[in-house]
Amino acid sequence: MTKPRHSFSSISANSSAVPHIVIIGGTTRASSTSERLARHCERLLQARGSTTAMFPAGELELPMYAPERQQPHPVAEHFIREVRRCDGMVIASPGYHGGISGLLKNALDYTEELRSDSRPYLHGRAVGCIVTAAGWQGANSTLAALRSVVHALRGWPTPLGVAVNSTQPLIDEAGALSPDIEHQLSIMVQQIMQIAQWGRASDAALPTRELATGT
Ligand SMILES: Cc1cc2nc3c(=O)[nH]c(=O)nc-3n(C[C@H](O)[C@H](O)[C@H](O)COP(=O)(O)O)c2cc1C
Repeated sequence: MTKPRHSFSSISANSSAVPHIVIIGGTTRASSTSERLARHCERLLQARGSTTAMFPAGELELPMYAPERQQPHPVAEHFIREVRRCDGMVIASPGYHGGISGLLKNALDYTEELRSDSRPYLHGRAVGCIVTAAGWQGANSTLAALRSVVHALRGWPTPLGVAVNSTQPLIDEAGALSPDIEHQLSIMVQQIMQIAQWGRASDAALPTRELATGT
């Protein structure tokens, strides 16, 4: 028997005055560079007054998404609930063979559960995209692929995405993140916050029916 597709409970968008940002990223590898950059963004977002929900790769080892056989899964439900109410996201992926990791893509596929929302998928959300890879070609091609996924989900990739070559030193002599990467991440976080505020204002102005129609 075909299982119903609507197995995820629905709650409304973030009604608080404070922007809420969901951060997903990293690999399950110890010392994951992409997770490190994701956590740095979390600190920057909190310093700017945002609330955050962090989902490192180790928490996103979800069953493969298959719309016809969704089973209740506590982590997937929590993830979908947080994305549903968020005003923006950070996605930090490794470059794996020219694309984002299967683990992160699978988690993003769960946003299919938001397709019938008044803010479907990542509608209206600013999304900061970060990629780390073992070379510039892999980092940049994967960044383009990640931004394309965000577009498909109707999100707004921030003007600045961050591509990092993880074979080069990420840490300076004082043990801090390299000033160049730190600078890029702070600009990206600033853009997320700014677009999040615009998105909240424009969503309030648009009738729900208009938001629910396809693009
Ligand atoms: C399965 C796999 C595929 C990879 N494919 C590429 C690739 O195509 N291009 C590249 O530059 N690096 C590639 N890498 C290297 C990773 O992108 C790089 O080590 C990255 O920093 C891993 O992220 P992490 O530090 O968060 O674990 C690959 C690594 C793995 C494990």
